[in-house]
Order: sequence, then structure tokens, then C-alpha cells
Amino acid sequence: MKGVSFLATVTILALASYIASAYDPSPLQDFCVAINDIKSCVFVNGKFCKDPAMVSANDFFFYELNIPGNTGNKVGSNVTLVNVDKLVGLNTLGISLAHLDFAPYGLNPPHTHPRSTELLVVIKGTLLVGFGDVFVFPVGLIHFQFNIGKTNALAFACLSSQNLGVITTANAVFGSVPPINPDVLINAFQLDKGVVEYLQKVFAPK
Ligand SMILES: *[C@@H]1O[C@H](CO)[C@@H](O)[C@H](O)[C@H]1NC(C)=O
Repeated sequence: MKGVSFLATVTILALASYIASAYDPSPLQDFCVAINDIKSCVFVNGKFCKDPAMVSANDFFFYELNIPGNTGNKVGSNVTLVNVDKLVGLNTLGISLAHLDFAPYGLNPPHTHPRSTELLVVIKGTLLVGFGDVFVFPVGLIHFQFNIGKTNALAFACLSSQNLGVITTANAVFGSVPPINPDVLINAFQLDKGVVEYLQKVFAPK
């Protein structure tokens, strides 16, 4: 009987390790190019850890999240993002926060977070997003926020990654470097050549 339960345990463990090894780890960086020379590589998914003996309280603080960002730009919005680059204590914890300011008619243009679901709450003003006062943008879904009110708007977003990534659709499509062949964009978006040339000029990185 003991032998049977031992066998069952081994089988379950073998199965568990089989299932575990069937998954890829979630990437925490945009890419990790494989290298064959073991001496010139690092094994890391995310950031390296500080020696725990060197950690200080400041590693877990981010100041000035209460200060509004300057919305005097082309889109009329400003996102202050607190991710692992800004708050080093977030490393490995799988979460970030953002403070979003909108001038009247300000827009956070359509974009996607390849590694993060986003939960957003409107603190002040009226944003067009579709779902209500609190809404969730599932990971990878293209979304935007648009201030349709007459006053400034303020929102906070909580994001399920220490390094969510941001791909702003128009910039990725029309402002890529090197540029996407205009014929591809003319066909994909059913636009005139002149319009595509104009958009590629507007979104070209300065
Ligand atoms: C957002 O606001 C900060 C603080 O005022 C400013 O430094 C930054 O340039 C603004 N970003 C954009 C995109 O306008």
C-alpha cells in the first residue's frame, strides 16, 4: 500500500513538473535575445535585486504623485507613471500606478499595454471610456480616455505589471522607425497617399 501511495506521489510530482515546464514565463522586458556564449550573457526577467542589507525605506516611496502633470501639449493630457523604473521597490511585485490629468477635451490617445490589465478610476471630471466610473481594460486591449467635460479631469490607474509597456497606436503605425512602407498603410487603412504621407510626417519622432 505504501508502495502504491509512493508511486502515486511520484506520478503527481512528475505530472506537476511536466505541467509547470509546459509554460513560458511571463516576460518583464520587451525582448531577451538568445545568446550561445554563456560568458557574455545574463539571466534575468525584470530587474536585478538590490542586496537586502542595502535596502532602505526610500526604495519603497514615490513622492509628488499629487502634483498635476502639465497638459499644455498637443493631446491635452499628461500621464505620470509610477512603474519599476520610478519606484524600485516595485520589482517582482507585479503592479504599477498612474496619475492621469486631462485638460478640457484632452485625450490619452488609443494605446495598449502588452503586459498589463488596467483598472482606472475617475476622481474628478467626466471621461469618455464607455463603462462607468471605474473600468477595467483587459491586458492587450486598445483603449483611450477622452475628457468630454468642460473642466479639467483627474484619474488614477492601477496596472498589473511592474513594467506594463505602452504602445500608442498612431505612433506605432505612422511614426515607426524605419517608416512602414506607405503602400502598406494606404491599403490597411484605405487612405489616400497624401493622407498617409501627412500622418507619417506628423507622427515621425522629433
Ligand atoms: C507632463 O508633466 C510634466 C510635469 O509638469 C512635464 O515635465 C512633462 O513634460 C509633461 N509631459 C508631456 C507629454 O506633456
